[in-house]
Amino acid sequence: MSSSPARGALAATTLVTPIGPPPIRGGRAGQVLEIPQGAVAWEDGRITFVGPADDLDVQPQWFEGCTISPGFVDCHTHLPFIGWRADEFEARLTGRSYRDLHGEGGIHRSARLLAEASDEDVLDFCRPLLSEMTAHGTTALELKTGYGLSVEGELRQARLARRLAAEAGQTCTVTLLPCHAVPDGLERSAWVRTVCDELIPAAAAEGLADAIDIYVEDIAFSLEDLEAVAVAAAEAGLPLRCHADQLGPSGAAEAAASLGARSADHLNNVSRPGVEALGQGRTAAVLLPTSTLMLRSSPPDARALLEAGATVALATDFNPGTSPVLSMPEAIATGCSLYGLTPAEALCAATANPAWVLGLSGELGTLVPGGRADLLVLEGDAFRHVPYRPGHDPVVRTVIGGRVVWDR
Ligand code: NIG
Ligand code: FE
Repeated sequence: MSSSPARGALAATTLVTPIGPPPIRGGRAGQVLEIPQGAVAWEDGRITFVGPADDLDVQPQWFEGCTISPGFVDCHTHLPFIGWRADEFEARLTGRSYRDLHGEGGIHRSARLLAEASDEDVLDFCRPLLSEMTAHGTTALELKTGYGLSVEGELRQARLARRLAAEAGQTCTVTLLPCHAVPDGLERSAWVRTVCDELIPAAAAEGLADAIDIYVEDIAFSLEDLEAVAVAAAEAGLPLRCHADQLGPSGAAEAAASLGARSADHLNNVSRPGVEALGQGRTAAVLLPTSTLMLRSSPPDARALLEAGATVALATDFNPGTSPVLSMPEAIATGCSLYGLTPAEALCAATANPAWVLGLSGELGTLVPGGRADLLVLEGDAFRHVPYRPGHDPVVRTVIGGRVVWDR
């Protein structure tokens, strides 16, 4: 086999990659590079060649009928968590809403499960999930807090995320989501003050966070809280992200854009001015179609976002409540069928643009000489089968940093 940590070369019926540099905005997302009989080669974990297999001076390993693509980058997950909430899913199917369940269930329930578990229990729960992600082609991902719901609880969850990141096969970043739910017994404003004055500075001082996120919603935090958290994030030198307009319209997308946030995520109820703001500003639109499916929410107008010129990314939102889905192929398939993205747009939204959201686009997300050899061999030519066969894992091989980490 030609793949080893030191060097390797693969060829397939088609090689596809977004054309950087990201962020790849609007309609440019659909303009991917497609090389028939394409090959990629690497040395010491870095790509040395991308082009027609005929131009390669070594013999590549051939994958007939397959596609080579960059590895998937999942830029919105809620790992590490522990425990599932399948009963809440069933309750929602028989008339309860996500809002109804908030408190006895929802984020507060996952917070209780996390608080009751030992560190080792949490890591043991998460490890096989990361391996399953590898088998579904995720080569880089975001880990997030948000189930700590106290200063110590959030710092603990961030430390667990860093431990998981250190042992994961994938590249992982850590986002602090201190404003996810208001902790029991506290006033919202008092918690936001503690977050800004104590938690964010403490997490930054310990090097625990790569970004700061906030959930803006009527059951969670306000636009005013978003502004306060934006100031604290900027003081800590960390990019801002925002769960925006998920359950209802709040104006969070336009507020996030005007604050220069790295991303506004969900966007099911984004307003027309919100779409325009994302089209003009530098804030990426992170779309999470599997949580839309599981909550049976109305999809955002992804076409309008692209036409406005927005940077669109797709992610799983992997969490035990709204999206117990860790598969990027599933997010891609749902993004195409439910949101109307084309396969090429979905490829860009699952690789180059999410790498930009995570601050990793200098390293990974496209196939380009000098970049990290994070790549996939996928069933079917020209990326076609990934959105076409939801529920099927199309990944034949996952390569991270030039090492084969998964083979079917
Ligand atoms: O992105 N809605 C806010 N946060 C998560 C869900 C968290 C949970 O229910 O545990 C989301 O959908
Ligand atoms: Fe989320």
